[in-house]
Amino acid sequence: MNQDQALIEILNHAIELEYGALFLMPQHIARLGQSELAAGLRKAVRDELNHAEATASIIVALGGVPKADFKLLRPMETPEEMLRVHLAGEKQSIALYREAEMKASRPEHQRVLRRLLSDEERHQQMFTSLLARLEGAKDTPA
Ligand SMILES: [Fe+2]
Ligand SMILES: [Fe+2]
Repeated sequence: MNQDQALIEILNHAIELEYGALFLMPQHIARLGQSELAAGLRKAVRDELNHAEATASIIVALGGVPKADFKLLRPMETPEEMLRVHLAGEKQSIALYREAEMKASRPEHQRVLRRLLSDEERHQQMFTSLLARLEGAKDTPA
């Protein structure tokens, strides 16, 4: 497998994660109502849509075909579970975009991938601190 094919494979995996987030986030937002967590997810979901588009564009530019094997995901019940599932997704995305950035040979693709990486790192930070606050609130006696 050459470098571009390896990159296409990584990016197709990244698109699967983006679709997973895009599928779950609106359902979680609806269940959460008006809350800080819902507001955070609402911001992130716009980024994820942009990421799915940007990732697919790189695949096409490399002569590949964007395709995602989408697994049907079940929405989570509690805010903690929601945060954990999105946090896990961000971590996987960070690992993939890091690997993709190293494999990318065109500067314009490296630039895009660095932007996606920094978005995911921001999401990871946001979900981590929201989860810490949620867990802290649970431990504090009423
Ligand atoms: Fe993303
Ligand atoms: Fe993200």
